[in-house]
Amino acid sequence: MQPSPYTPGEVARIVPGRARQLAEVDERLSTLIDLGRLVGRIRVDHAARGFGKTSLLREYQRRASARGAATVWVTAGEEQGLIAQIAASVHTITDGLAEHVKTGLRERIETLQLSVGVPGIATATSTFRPPTDGDRPEQSGARALEAVIRAAVAERPLVILIDEIQSADPSGLRTLVYAWQHLQAEGADVPAAVFAAGLPNAPETIAGIVTFSERLAYRPLGPLHREAEEIALIGPARALGVHWTQPAVDRALAIAQGYPYFVQLIADSAWTAAGRPDPGSAIELSAVEHGRDAMQADLDALFRARWSACSPSERRMLAAIAEHGDGPVSRAAIAASLNTGSNQLSTPRARLIDKGLIQPADRGTLEFTIPGFAAFVRDSET
Ligand SMILES: Nc1ncnc2c1ncn2[C@@H]1O[C@H](COP(=O)(O)OP(=O)(O)O)[C@@H](O)[C@H]1O
Ligand SMILES: [Mg+2]
Repeated sequence: MQPSPYTPGEVARIVPGRARQLAEVDERLSTLIDLGRLVGRIRVDHAARGFGKTSLLREYQRRASARGAATVWVTAGEEQGLIAQIAASVHTITDGLAEHVKTGLRERIETLQLSVGVPGIATATSTFRPPTDGDRPEQSGARALEAVIRAAVAERPLVILIDEIQSADPSGLRTLVYAWQHLQAEGADVPAAVFAAGLPNAPETIAGIVTFSERLAYRPLGPLHREAEEIALIGPARALGVHWTQPAVDRALAIAQGYPYFVQLIADSAWTAAGRPDPGSAIELSAVEHGRDAMQADLDALFRARWSACSPSERRMLAAIAEHGDGPVSRAAIAASLNTGSNQLSTPRARLIDKGLIQPADRGTLEFTIPGFAAFVRDSET
């Protein structure tokens, strides 16, 4: 018996199928590390849950560290706000710095914390809050953040990784983007970069908050192609001396449909169904079929939970999309099914995108984010 090498619901150890993303980020890291320059655009990889954003961002982080950059990680959405989170995480990398660099950086971090309303050690009151109307506090926050970034790169380039960026507070996002705007405008010799990940609503959400959309580079993260799925499936087993038969592979990939979370889930379920095989044994089609039954119960629970969290109008919209099959559906077709104008769709559309159930696809169409959900919706209907 060997424990499963698969990672359903956990950060993936390897990220096959993401060569393009990694090549782009490697190139940015060269700008940063070899040329010592600012990476002027904030990269945002976006996709629904389960597509591997966090795993990819962790891989960016590993590569940046391996090439000598200091890295800090923030999962946006905490109450203190994005900038306070960044300030706190930059503070954690000050320990090993030369004394004068450390002192200077810590002072600037404290100034930044004050400017965004987080009390530093030196403040008497914990109720200090800057005014929040207008852009002024964000502009001064941006200056303070810029000073932190400049001080932080004294010894090593800095990479800031922001997960769940769609959940960042609007003010924090504006501050970050203004700071990047300033750094870019005032000369690019500051080796710093921001790589972020978010849900499919990230571009719309951010565009509604900041005007400098050209400061951000949005990259949709798609499903895995077949070869990448096979690597994710076979590779970890092979490392443990276990072989997947071809019919088992074909069946597992038909179930996963390129969705990274499902690749891990079906592989893990099949592994368990095969009795957690010893080296020298194989995973057969029957193990995948048994694994699928086990996995289906989990999936139904997940789908049911999401379905019951929807309002009646959202459910009607989901049903109208599902009616057209599993692929992308145009707004006009959805409106026709609902017997309504496409303007009527805006509210449920936005809510369902925010919930991560559907996402915008090519040419104004909408599609489900998770394979199998359309079928579940069709079944729930009857
Ligand atoms: N490139 C990949 N190949 C195979 N599995 C992956 C890949 N990337 C992520 N996964 C797996 O997919 C699931 C979702 O990954 P995660 O990074 O948490 O996605 P997200 O942050 O988009 O929700 C996890 O079970 C993870 O192990
Ligand atoms: Mg994630």
